[in-house]
Amino acid sequence: MGNEILVIGSANVDLVVKLDKIPKPGETIGDGRFHQFCGGKGANQAVAAARSGQDVVFVGLVGDDAYGEAVIENLKAASIDTQYLHKEKTSHTGIALISVSSSGENAISIAPGVNKQLGVNRIDPLESVIASSALVLLQLEIPFETSAHVIKLAAQLGTRVMLNPAPSQQRATELIGSVDLLVVNEHEACDISGLPTGTDAEIELAAEWLFDKGAKHVIITLGSRGVFLKGEFHKKFLSTFKVEPVDTTGAGDAFCGTLASEFSRTDSIEAALKYALAASAISVTRLGAQEAVPTRKEVEILLSEHSG
Ligand code: RIB
Repeated sequence: MGNEILVIGSANVDLVVKLDKIPKPGETIGDGRFHQFCGGKGANQAVAAARSGQDVVFVGLVGDDAYGEAVIENLKAASIDTQYLHKEKTSHTGIALISVSSSGENAISIAPGVNKQLGVNRIDPLESVIASSALVLLQLEIPFETSAHVIKLAAQLGTRVMLNPAPSQQRATELIGSVDLLVVNEHEACDISGLPTGTDAEIELAAEWLFDKGAKHVIITLGSRGVFLKGEFHKKFLSTFKVEPVDTTGAGDAFCGTLASEFSRTDSIEAALKYALAASAISVTRLGAQEAVPTRKEVEILLSEHSG
């Protein structure tokens, strides 16, 4: 087993307008400021893992267009291995239209383009890459069948899997049995388990339910409240760092990417969670998803300020 993180997932370009508030249906709001960033849950998580100093390989698709070029260049600039990031002519690079309010909340509309064409045909040739990776990291912005295939293959090959089933789908329960780390927010936990997650007691029960389905570690993220962790030897809430949010887009991705990287590096779920909470807290103080992810040095400074 190597020490690489293998991310198989989506890559988008995020077209972002920062406004005082997010428009309601039928409403038009002027005075926004426009930004273009590279995004997509898969690529965001890959960049987060790489920025913690981990070797990262990214598998995905972009269109044969200028946005696709921007995605490739951005991942290369983050020192990510892009040899399995292919150009596909049958559709466009994934696009996300994002409105971000002054309080940092967002509304996202996605046109997935080629992300939805990442089929199992792209996975089968990667058996040796999966086998030699420390951990495979997946989300659900590519076809469900492809994610299911990767998880099955990784389980056969003895490679750890971390799944962030976002956007959530009820049938994600089918994937949980072979997952080492399952990361969901409270809404996804509710969608997948069918259980309410409005109170601390309900969050614990939903985590138990997901754990009983076979995930070795269940992490329910709770925004500014931190996370709940359920594992064989753990059942606890961990708080996070207090920050002034500028943009929460990609905070979950910063959390997942850094958690994957730190869990592989340290083999300690609690140490990895502490690091990921610090990284995602810093990320919400900045605009953009990938741009906002802090370096290891920045995370270590925040952790040292709060140690002892
Ligand atoms: O999680 C945030 C990401 O979701 C954005 O970067 C956007 O591209 C969508 O995939």
